[in-house]
Amino acid sequence: MAAKIIAFLNFKGGVGKTTCVVNLGACLAYLLGRRVLVADLDAQCNSTFWLLRPREFQRLAGEDPGSADAPGRRRTTWQIYEDALRGTRDFDPAAAIVRGVPRNEHGTELAPFLHLLPAATDLLDVEFGLDGSNVRRLRPALHRALEPLRGEYDFILLDCPPHLHYVTQSAVLAADHLVVPYNPDYLSLSGFKVLCRELRRREEIFRELRPGRPPAQVAAAVVCRHKRVGNVYQGAIAELDSLIDQLRERGLVHPACARLEPPIRDDVRVGEAASEHRPVIHHAPKSIASDDFMALALAFTRHFNALP
Ligand SMILES: Nc1ncnc2c1ncn2[C@@H]1O[C@H](COP(=O)(O)OP(=O)(O)OP(=O)(O)O)[C@@H](O)[C@H]1O
Ligand SMILES: [Mg+2]
Repeated sequence: MAAKIIAFLNFKGGVGKTTCVVNLGACLAYLLGRRVLVADLDAQCNSTFWLLRPREFQRLAGEDPGSADAPGRRRTTWQIYEDALRGTRDFDPAAAIVRGVPRNEHGTELAPFLHLLPAATDLLDVEFGLDGSNVRRLRPALHRALEPLRGEYDFILLDCPPHLHYVTQSAVLAADHLVVPYNPDYLSLSGFKVLCRELRRREEIFRELRPGRPPAQVAAAVVCRHKRVGNVYQGAIAELDSLIDQLRERGLVHPACARLEPPIRDDVRVGEAASEHRPVIHHAPKSIASDDFMALALAFTRHFNALP
């Protein structure tokens, strides 16, 4: 079966996009045996540096990924966009994809089915000073790079930056479905609304660049950092549910759009896991975040397997 390509995005930063991509990806691959590719599209390189130790990245890349003339940039998502802008064909997925992440101190793969397409901080520069023809080349670049990889995976998860600039637009174009990670608070709710509005404003562009396939829509929301104390968080979840209902009625999200259960509870183990360069199921398998991500992975596969 061909991979489903799913982009995690929100107009708001710090809502758990990276945390969801890395930890759902790990649960899907390690516990459910799915073949998963995490593609990091964010110049912050957060999923890259979560899953790779700095020395590991430098070894793979041949140099410091941040340095201006690092040959290693070719082995990152940056090269996909660079090729589109320069008319080159240097992106080589076989060389770029790190197969089996994370690895322990001895280099042993902990999750052989979890693969990573790393990012480079140079992605920061990709979107600056583009004229119209560059933008036209940039938007379909990711779709073209990922299509040949569909046969190798069950899920390709895209970790997007916290905005809707051209790289994120390229993710929307490449994706079959969109997922909105959500922090249970007012600002995150408004980020969700703005995202849906801005996607609608660009619908014509997406239609034109993806003939024959309807533009990807938000098909699920995931609550991250849920706290069970106080009414604020319960209220925020109820508000999210009612927003999804409204957006569904207005056709601004997928007809099957739903909040996936369970919410991921706030857990100090998540931050620890990132600093240990491991998903939380490896770092703290008995933690509440680990339990939640395992349950979420089941809900995620059920939900997306039922969608075309
Ligand atoms: N369930 C959780 N428990 C505790 N901390 C969490 C949880 N989920 C996310 N975090 C923390 O919240 C912060 C933001 O999460 P994350 O980096 O995944 O968000 P993001 O949406 O990818 O951010 P950005 O927009 O900057 O890319 C991180 O420090 C992460 O460790
Ligand atoms: Mg992130």
